Amino acid sequence: MLAPGAAARNADQPFVLLISDRPAERMALERAIGLVMDCCAVEPGAILPSARPHLVILDAPPDRVATVNIAVGTPTRPVPCLLLARGGPVPVPGAHVRQLPATAPRQAVLASAFAMIEDATRSAETRRRRLVEHVSGATAIVADLFDSAALGAGLRRIDIDRGTELVLDAVSEVGIGAWLEAVWRHDIGVYQHTLGVAGHAATFGSKIGLGRGDRGRLVRAALLHDIGKSRIPVEILNKPGPLTPEEFRLMQRHPDIGASLLTAQGAFEPEVIDVVRHHHERLDGRGYPDRLAGAAISDLVRIVSICDVFSALTERRTYRQPASGPEALAIMVESEGHLDPDLLRTFAPVVLGNDTLAA
Ligand SMILES: [Fe+2]
Ligand SMILES: [Fe+2]
Repeated sequence: MLAPGAAARNADQPFVLLISDRPAERMALERAIGLVMDCCAVEPGAILPSARPHLVILDAPPDRVATVNIAVGTPTRPVPCLLLARGGPVPVPGAHVRQLPATAPRQAVLASAFAMIEDATRSAETRRRRLVEHVSGATAIVADLFDSAALGAGLRRIDIDRGTELVLDAVSEVGIGAWLEAVWRHDIGVYQHTLGVAGHAATFGSKIGLGRGDRGRLVRAALLHDIGKSRIPVEILNKPGPLTPEEFRLMQRHPDIGASLLTAQGAFEPEVIDVVRHHHERLDGRGYPDRLAGAAISDLVRIVSICDVFSALTERRTYRQPASGPEALAIMVESEGHLDPDLLRTFAPVVLGNDTLAA
């Protein structure tokens, strides 16, 4: 059963998710909570809204509680949960879970719920402010990188490491959706794209269990992958429509230009330069600039290529509508011989947000 209003829910609008198998209690709590925050009330087993709630109130028998993945959103930022426990406390770990007996008076349940809503609202505001700072900082770094590269000045490794930290921190704190929303508020396409690819790379890296060091290398490579575009004329980069064959040939030189630029600096790992040079290669050997095929394309390159293509397809452009996440994935799967199919299968749930709460 679809939660009432679930399909139309605005992702920015804070709400409380109430899961209860007691209709009378559910209605009473929904009405009272609705006075302070939008409340989505459902039975256990209902299809849940895809947006992240501010608070979950769970009022269900123990066998239902055991199947609930309360760590919705990102593992480092689980949704606060008020559990109305039956037959004694339920062993659910985590400081984000508060328990009351299901027999507690309704006023006590509401007092706890309101206190938790207040806490969640306060920390959401702090997170929002930090996210704006992170995105502004990372955009300034990326803008500076492109300017320096265009002018032939040195790229400072310390700036790239700082940008990498900003992306990793922000994505693990707020998730890829909020990161992209914030990035897309900036209107310079190549910076948006760079930060989008870096955000997807950070998310993908944690999904496949990379440690902080490897994720850092991956995000660094993503931040630099298109640095060669700094030497491509802006009229070609921002052309609202198809390129002429001559413009296309010039555009196709950006991986080579970027890799030469980084090699000349001498401060970047070979794996990162490999990504910059080869992120437009294809597994079937029909890519550029070196027409590499199969095993000659490293895992790091394969991961960044997937993030790159997905970002490009889902970005807002003046001359076309962006593809939705599922549409972009379908295009990528159909483009046989291009991307690594196993990695693509792992990437799909990351971007479709399938790691959601299920009761
Ligand atoms: Fe590129
Ligand atoms: Fe790119």
